[in-house]
Amino acid sequence: SGIDLDRVAGLIRSVPDYPTPGVLFRDITPVLADGEAFAVVATELAALAGEADLVVGVEARGFLLGGAVALVAGVGTVPVRKAGKLPVVAATRTYDLEYGTATLELAADTVAPGTRVYVVDDVLATGGTAAAACALLTDVGAEVVGFGALLELPALGGRSKLGDVRVDALLNG
Ligand code: PRP
Ligand code: MG
Repeated sequence: SGIDLDRVAGLIRSVPDYPTPGVLFRDITPVLADGEAFAVVATELAALAGEADLVVGVEARGFLLGGAVALVAGVGTVPVRKAGKLPVVAATRTYDLEYGTATLELAADTVAPGTRVYVVDDVLATGGTAAAACALLTDVGAEVVGFGALLELPALGGRSKLGDVRVDALLNG
């Protein structure tokens, strides 16, 4: 409900000048640490995942959210990881962050072609992370049915990087 999400919003911590000067970092870990808030978020995102066959969570906080969303939705979960963590890689994408660049990877033999995937992360900021994660899935022939974030920062315009992928955000900041 709206009241529950207001309480969730109050748990998100804003940290000025992290990790670089001028960036206002949004830390959602207090939401995960609050059982009631965590359940509300997982339930709301699972409803938005709809008919997805699989939930993909983006390293690092997206792992925690994605796992919970998958469990509520009754489907499995697969991680999209930062580069260098996976022994056998199916797809790699490098992207620009609000601060620097980064590379995401998807492990081989984890997502079959045609799988309907819902991608989950904590924050949608400039959209580079979300777009790269979604691209990894289309690279292996999956169908991205949507991207869901706990928090969207609309001023950074990230939604526009996701093309025709449906974007869901529980909160705007
Ligand atoms: C943060 C956040 C999102 C991403 C959003 O992750 O968790 O994944 O930035 O930014 P974007 O929309 O501008 O791409 P970060 O890269 O800081 O790494 P972490 O999740 O491992 O902490
Ligand atoms: Mg992240």
